[in-house]
Amino acid sequence: MTNLKINIDKLEGFVSKETINEFEAQLILHQGTLLNKTGLGNDFLGWIALPDEIDESMLSSIEQDAINIRNKADIFVVIGIGGSYLGARAVIEALQHNFSGLLNKNERKSPFVVYAGNNISEDYLSDLLDILDKYDYVLTVVSKSGTTTEPAIAFRILRRHLEKKYGKDEARKRIIAITDKSKGALKGLAHNEGYKTYVVPDDVGGRYSVLTPVGLLPVAVAGFDIRKFIEGAKAMKQLVTTAKTIDENPAFMYAAARNALYTSGKPIEIMVNYQPSLVYITEWWKQLYGESEGKLNRGIFPAGVSFTTDLHSMGQYIQEGLRVIFETVLRVEKPRRELSVPSETDDSDGLNFVAGKRIFEVNQKAELGTLLAHVDGQVPNIIISIPEVNENNLGELLYFYEFACALSGYLLEVNPFDQPGVEAYKKNMFALLGKPGFEQQTEKLLKLLE
Ligand code: PA5
Repeated sequence: MTNLKINIDKLEGFVSKETINEFEAQLILHQGTLLNKTGLGNDFLGWIALPDEIDESMLSSIEQDAINIRNKADIFVVIGIGGSYLGARAVIEALQHNFSGLLNKNERKSPFVVYAGNNISEDYLSDLLDILDKYDYVLTVVSKSGTTTEPAIAFRILRRHLEKKYGKDEARKRIIAITDKSKGALKGLAHNEGYKTYVVPDDVGGRYSVLTPVGLLPVAVAGFDIRKFIEGAKAMKQLVTTAKTIDENPAFMYAAARNALYTSGKPIEIMVNYQPSLVYITEWWKQLYGESEGKLNRGIFPAGVSFTTDLHSMGQYIQEGLRVIFETVLRVEKPRRELSVPSETDDSDGLNFVAGKRIFEVNQKAELGTLLAHVDGQVPNIIISIPEVNENNLGELLYFYEFACALSGYLLEVNPFDQPGVEAYKKNMFALLGKPGFEQQTEKLLKLLE
């Protein structure tokens, strides 16, 4: 049994149920193609079986590392970019206290997780070093290729910082590398220095790697139950890999609905949440769908908003701008906490009409009001709902998104598992930095910049 539900009632008038159902036959074929590994990108389908095949000894090792790290670190730094950090961050931020960084370690019971190597900002790294001067920390460096520039730079700087702070021997014990089993500079470095390592399987791409140590180690260090997370993914795997109809299979429904909307002239999908803690779920989803589908001059553009915050910014555009958008609302049926609006005798702020109501109820009404207004403004809405944010439901949700993304990519006739377009900026950056081997490109670019 799974908890996630998907509702497409608010597509009525935009795309018909018949049009959506027309995708069913193709989806059954693509489901088979994914399971038989006979489609585009079939070398990168290891993620499909992950929930059932996670090695028990690896899980126990991750849990043991998490305990050790909890004992000796106030901060855990996750160095990685794209798929090498977004899954972990999405799960951790969804589950942790909204002000986790301001709790003390006893209240938090786990190190505070911070991120590096996901940008090349000198200010960001320098500010991070200020903090790391003051606190005990352990780091993980995550790079499947082991050669990505952003995390490599951050790792070089933090490695040096760790060695200066703790000495080479202790620094070595405070580094865990998550990378390829045999290839890449990081693998070589980890081997030479004797760092603890975990492997990113060959057949799992970065953005589908949340159920490997890439996601599991940071989530465990942050104090969350990775077994429940895996259980959720397992339940969703069972459903989406076997159910053969759009009405029974939520991944079929989502893939079909968004492709029907795309073909009807809605090329932009905005993922909507009503909880700031879910912003990184959206960021992870954006990477998953953007990198998987945006190729061959095709693909639905994935964007994200956090309501009601963004109703006071992007809300105007969504309501009245170009009518090329549809929204997918990630609805959470029950919050973790309880808080009501207090009543005041003189009602000086005119707010007594909500006195006694839960903040959640006000948020729900905002959600419903927005839904009706946006649909009325010609923005169709898909609703994905989970009963509450917990490890199990996040496991379901993330696996659902992954499987639906693979199906949706196949509907678009693209390879959802490569990302050739990411290389273009890298080539130019290397050429402009004078990396050996890029001389011709340097010359070409310098002419363009004259
Ligand atoms: O999904 C992907 O494959 C990418 O986003 C990668 O995760 C990202 O580019 C980082 O790559 P690497 O793990 O090789 O450093």
